[in-house]
Amino acid sequence: MFVDIDPKTFNLDPNRIEDAITPLTRAIIPVHLFGQCADMDAIGVIAQQKGLHIIEDAAQAIGAKFRSWPAGSMSAIGCLSFYPTKNLGGFGDSGMLTTHDAAMAERLRLFAAHGMSPRYYHQVVGLNSRIDSLQAAV
Ligand SMILES: Cc1ncc(COP(=O)(O)O)c(C=O)c1O
Repeated sequence: MFVDIDPKTFNLDPNRIEDAITPLTRAIIPVHLFGQCADMDAIGVIAQQKGLHIIEDAAQAIGAKFRSWPAGSMSAIGCLSFYPTKNLGGFGDSGMLTTHDAAMAERLRLFAAHGMSPRYYHQVVGLNSRIDSLQAAV
């Protein structure tokens, strides 16, 4: 379900989240837009009350902070895009996920490399979404 924005900030309006939650809802995905963060205090309270994860889309907000927390560091997973139009652009498609959880990091790496571990043994159906060396260098 999509949740409308607060027209003053263009970010997710926390007052509209609860109406969008259904029995199938597992996570809230705030998009920190135009270099500013969504109201993570209010979103955090709702997530805790409803037992939901938070996944931040920080593709347009790298370098932004909420209080002293960098965008992408306040939830289970932070998502960054380095597509050339983004705040931190690479030379083509690339991106990064951030997490404080080592087990989550391992699982995300697994999905990003064909679900493969060890080499040629596939644990899950994954993707090829590794950042290539050229993009990483740029
Ligand atoms: C806020 C936001 N999230 C995600 C994306 C998708 O990024 P990518 O194309 O690197 O997957 C975009 C792209 O425009 C974006 O603006």
